[in-house]
Order: sequence, then structure tokens, then C-alpha cells
Amino acid sequence: MEKERKDVPIVVIKRLPRYYRYLGEMLGQGMTRVSSKHLSEKMGVTASQIRQDLNFFGGFGQQGYGYNIEYLYHEIGEILGLHKGYTTIIIGAGNLGHALANHSNFKKRGFRLLGVFDKNEMLEGSTVGGVQVYHMSKLDKFMRDNEVDIAILAIPKYGIKEVADKLVSLGIKGLWNFSYSDLDIDPSVAVENVHLSDGLMTLSYRITQNQTQP
Ligand code: NAI
Repeated sequence: MEKERKDVPIVVIKRLPRYYRYLGEMLGQGMTRVSSKHLSEKMGVTASQIRQDLNFFGGFGQQGYGYNIEYLYHEIGEILGLHKGYTTIIIGAGNLGHALANHSNFKKRGFRLLGVFDKNEMLEGSTVGGVQVYHMSKLDKFMRDNEVDIAILAIPKYGIKEVADKLVSLGIKGLWNFSYSDLDIDPSVAVENVHLSDGLMTLSYRITQNQTQP
């Protein structure tokens, strides 16, 4: 049975994919163990921060040994639920929908794309990223016939509420929301909002700061 974990701060959860990535790179380089000092240098956080983060999940390190990379990589993957092989659909077969469907890294992380949906009838029957595009009217049946865990919302905010409510009523577990609209839905459904321009604005801030330094 899986351990229930409560009150893990969101900042800690947001660091887990980075731990996972770096550990995966180290594994690929044939490394077997890493000190918390080395890992902290790579991550740009302190060694004590890493210990604190991992303590939320039971530790994993050994005094004087550091971390067993393969074990930690595997454990963090499990904490992130990557072993579950969550299934996804994309709503919106436009530019963003295409880019996401063609992004092979999601598959590498264990996510399986089952289909793409769009309200534009002209797109029905085409394929995107190797999967079929269906008209939105097929969504109910598709979700009854297939277990779909995550919907990726790559549509404009206009009309998003109806789409999100429908997905929730059909039993979706999580929404990866690119629509630039905050969703007011049942809190039992996990929502992750993405704003690519946040990264650009953060970059703009840093350039501005660099220019104002004496
Ligand atoms: P696009 O215009 O190329 O494609 C949108 C597609 O969604 C079209 O095929 C359209 O028929 C379909 N669509 C619209 N409303 C729908 C609905 N209610 N149900 C099903 N399908 C629907 O647009 P693009 O470039 O793919 O962007 C999609 C949305 O994502 C835009 O609103 C854009 O602002 C947003 N976006 C968000 C980003 C982010 O960082 N959060 C980054 C890029 C785009």
C-alpha cells in the first residue's frame, strides 16, 4: 500500500522533477552514488535543503555514503507517480496541441497520449503526434471506453469552463491547463496551470537586474 503523505509544501513538490532529471542524467553517465554536496551543487540548493526535502518522504540518504542514485531516482519517480503510466488526452489540435502531442519526452516519462480532441469538424480523422484527432462530440464515449487520467487543455479560455466541467463530470483526475484561465472546479481534481510567459517575464526581470547592477 502506498504511504499517505500530508503537508508536503508545494515548493518541495516542484523541486522533485528536477531531482528526478538530474539523477536520471547521473545514471546515464554510469554514476552509482552521489554526495548531498555534489547533488546540491547541481541543483543550486543547499545540502541541508536537499536533506529537508527528502525527509518529507522518509530520507533515503546514508551518513558518509550520500545517496544511491538508482534507488533515489526510482523512489522519486514513484513519489511523482510516474510508475502509474497515467493516460492523457489533448483538447485542442492547434499549434500548441501539435507541439505537445509531438513532444516525445512525456512518453519517456511514462505518460501515454490516447487521443486529441477538437471542436473543428475538419480536423476529425487526422493524426497528431501519431494519435487520432476526434471531434469533441466523441469525448463522452471515448472517456467511457478508455480510462483517461489527465486532460491537457490547449484551447483558448473562451469556452474552457464548459470543457473543464464536462471532463470533470466524466471522471478526469487532472487538468494540465494552458488556457490562461483559472478553473473553478471540484478540488478533488488536480489542476496545474501553465503560463509560458511567466518564464520569459522572469528572464526579463533578471536581465533588467543585471543591467542595473553597478
Ligand atoms: P490555435 O488557434 O492554433 O488552436 C486552438 C485549437 O483549439 C483550434 O484547433 C480550435 O478549433 C480548438 N478549440 C477552440 N475552442 C475549443 C473548444 N472549446 N473545444 C475544443 N477545441 C477547441 O491556438 P494555439 O496556438 O494552439 O493555442 C491554444 C491556446 O493556448 C490559446 O488560447 C493560447 O492563448 C494558449 N496558449 C497558452 C500558452 C501558455 O503558456 N499557457 C502558450 C501558448 C498558447
